Amino acid sequence: MRIGPITLELPAVLAALAGYTNLPYRLICRRLGAPYCSTEAMLDRQLLLPGKLRRRLVHTDPADHPVAGQIMGNDPKVMAQAAAELCREGFDVVDLNFACPVRKVLARRRGGYLMRQPELALEILRAVLAAADRPVTLKLRRAFDDEPEMQAAFWRIAEGAFDAGAAAICVHARTAQQRYTGKADWEFLSKVKSHFADKTVIGSGDALSAPQAAELLRQTGVDGVSLARGALGNPWIFRQLADHLAGRPMYRPDLLEQRQLLEAHYSHALQLFGPRRAPKMLRSFGIKYARLHPHPSAVRVEFVNIDSEGDWQAVLERHY
Ligand SMILES: Cc1cc2nc3c(=O)[nH]c(=O)nc-3n(C[C@H](O)[C@H](O)[C@H](O)COP(=O)(O)O)c2cc1C
Repeated sequence: MRIGPITLELPAVLAALAGYTNLPYRLICRRLGAPYCSTEAMLDRQLLLPGKLRRRLVHTDPADHPVAGQIMGNDPKVMAQAAAELCREGFDVVDLNFACPVRKVLARRRGGYLMRQPELALEILRAVLAAADRPVTLKLRRAFDDEPEMQAAFWRIAEGAFDAGAAAICVHARTAQQRYTGKADWEFLSKVKSHFADKTVIGSGDALSAPQAAELLRQTGVDGVSLARGALGNPWIFRQLADHLAGRPMYRPDLLEQRQLLEAHYSHALQLFGPRRAPKMLRSFGIKYARLHPHPSAVRVEFVNIDSEGDWQAVLERHY
């Protein structure tokens, strides 16, 4: 799979996930074979804050490449400035979020709202392409809603984006109005890929396990699959997908390996966020990691109550 000059051996990417795909988790997924990762959506204006405030938001690391920085906004000028900032910070790709379905975001005409405004979406893209000296990609929904006019807007944006020079599009096969409900429409992904046969199209939606991710690739013919909820608490999904695609039995981490990974994750979080924030940060991850444990509900309850490094260590001692 290719994104501009970047070639990826495994046709899979770690999706943008607000609250999760921060630097520590990206490093964890890379260990297990994620060839390409995305930050969570960052508000364009926040990237333009002075040094110290911006540094709270933007984290890079030599071991975290190739990496996409995802930005969200609706003013072409501000988005262009934010894109230039991402390039200065060393991100390999600038990804534009035209997909977020959160009510507050839509109310401010950002994220998925842009699926209703193809001309503005393309104006933003052109401004960003002019400001960024590296590949620019788009995260789209299959439409804003199911009105025919909105479906036409998807094609206008996708066509216009490739014409303007976008390196790839990632399509979440639900409408913005659907948010995360209902099934992702994989048939739509097939249509998009056959329409843009020589372009890079990444499919997103309902690839919650390695076999499902492989099935999405097979059924739709897209170049790559974006792993989102399936990668939460199971960073092994990248290795499992590689196994599955190669016809090998799928790797299953035992409890000792899960513990080692949880420790490594904690240590990355500690380094970046310090001893006060790291345990709270890890709480939401622990809840997801618990799913792989033979006694998920008992472990989950304990992760929910974590407040300190001591609490974290105690859960690992007791259950792993
Ligand atoms: C908790 C959560 C946070 C998300 N944050 C973002 C985000 O910041 N940017 C983005 O483009 N998509 C975001 N998404 C959407 C995912 O990247 C993905 O497109 C969607 O979850 C569908 O894939 P899945 O069915 O494999 O989870 C988020 C999804 C979830 C569940």
